[in-house]
Amino acid sequence: FSDSQSASLEVAAEIAALIREKAANNEPCVLGLATGSSPIKVYDELVRLHREEGLSFKHVTTFNLDEYHPMTRENIQSYHYFMHEHLFDHIDIPAQQINIPDGQVKTEDLHQYCLGYEEKIQQAGGLDFQLLGIGRTGHIGFNEPGSHYNSGTRMITLDYITRVDAAPSFLGIENVPRKAITMGIATVRSAKRVVLMGWGQHKAEIIKETVEGTIDSHVPATYLQDHPNCTFVLDDEAASELT
Ligand code: F6R
Repeated sequence: FSDSQSASLEVAAEIAALIREKAANNEPCVLGLATGSSPIKVYDELVRLHREEGLSFKHVTTFNLDEYHPMTRENIQSYHYFMHEHLFDHIDIPAQQINIPDGQVKTEDLHQYCLGYEEKIQQAGGLDFQLLGIGRTGHIGFNEPGSHYNSGTRMITLDYITRVDAAPSFLGIENVPRKAITMGIATVRSAKRVVLMGWGQHKAEIIKETVEGTIDSHVPATYLQDHPNCTFVLDDEAASELT
C-alpha cells in the first residue's frame, strides 16, 4: 500500500467481515489483538464501523498479545489502558469477553496464570484472527530473539532495543519495565489467520529479514513464514528493502 491509512482500512474491513460472518452463523469470533502505533488506524476504523455502520462486537472475544510486568491497569503506559482508550471504550464488547495479560500477577503465580491464559484461548475456540505489529528486534508480541517455536504464554525479558523504542513514551529508558507477559510463538501461530502490519522506513530492514531471511529464532517473526494463512500488510517504506 502507498500509505498506512488505506492499508489500515483494508485490514479493518477484513476484521469487520469476519465478525459479521461469524455473527451470521451464530458462532463466536475470537480476535488476537496488538497494541503499539501500528494498529491504531485499524482500531479507529473499527470504532467508526461500530458507530456509523452498526458493526457489533457483542459476540466477539478478544485476547491481547502482551502487557508489561509489573504494570497496573490504570497506568497510562499500560496496554490495558491503551486498548480501552483506542477501542474497547468505544464499542459494545461485553467486558467479560476482553482478555489482556494482567501486569499485576504476583511473580510466584505467573506460571499458572500463563497456562490459564492459554487454556482460556482454547476454551473460547482458538484464535480466528491474530493482528500483529513487528518490533525492530523481529519480535511479534514480545517474543524477543531467542524465543522458541513452541513457546506459549510466558514472562519474557525485553530486549534492549525494544526498551529504547519504548523509552520516549515512558519519558526515559530507566522507566521502561524490563519484563512483560506475552503470548508465545506457538500461541500466535495457532491462529487460523494472521495479519502483520508494518509502517515506515524504520521497519524496512526487519521486514526484509523476516520475509526473505531463513527461519531462525534470532528473528522470531520469521516463524510466520510457514504459517498457512499469513499476510504482511506494509506501506511502501516498510516494503522498500524487499527484493
Ligand atoms: C504490541 C506488540 C509489539 C508491537 C511492536 C511494534 O502489543 O505486541 O510486538 O506490535 O513492538 O510496535 P509499534 O507498532 O509501536 O511499532
